Amino acid sequence: MKLADEAGALAAMRHSQNRVVTVAIDQMMFHEPIRIGDLITLEAIVTYAGRTSMETRVQVIAENPISGERTHTNTAYLVYVALDEDGTPTAVPGLVAESDLEKRRMQEAAERQAYRLAQRELAAKG
Ligand SMILES: CC(C)(COP(=O)(O)OP(=O)(O)OC[C@H]1O[C@@H](n2cnc3c(N)ncnc32)[C@H](O)[C@@H]1OP(=O)(O)O)[C@@H](O)C(=O)NCCC(=O)NCCS
Repeated sequence: MKLADEAGALAAMRHSQNRVVTVAIDQMMFHEPIRIGDLITLEAIVTYAGRTSMETRVQVIAENPISGERTHTNTAYLVYVALDEDGTPTAVPGLVAESDLEKRRMQEAAERQAYRLAQRELAAKG
């Protein structure tokens, strides 16, 4: 989980060219085990950019270094906020979807973000 957070943060830092703070981590499910000795690869992309927030998708792949067998163990969605020098949320560049796949991913990410914010509002109301 720590590695997923670091990978997501790096993708968000590259996109925003600023330091970032984690504001939300969605439910994380492991479909397959990661075994001791496995090589772990994390692939992180920015899937949504709001005004100051970004959603990243992190895919975790475990590889048996002897057999070379690669297994997709889980996917996590994490949200970061870009901060300026004073630690205040600051605007991030927009995200341009070119392919149909990217457009669909961006739409899905916007829906996830709307759900998170609705949950936040519910939690605030107690
Ligand atoms: C991140 C933080 C600076 C945001 O400050 P804030 O006063 O809540 O600012 P805002 O309400 O304007 O939110 C900033 C952005 O985060 C988004 N956001 C806030 N809470 C969110 C949540 N629970 N889920 C998803 N996005 C969220 C807002 O939608 C907004 O995005 P936008 O600018 O793209 O529209 C503040 O909440 C904070 O410091 N949180 C603690 C973070 C932390 O300590 N993380 C480390 C965990 S180990």
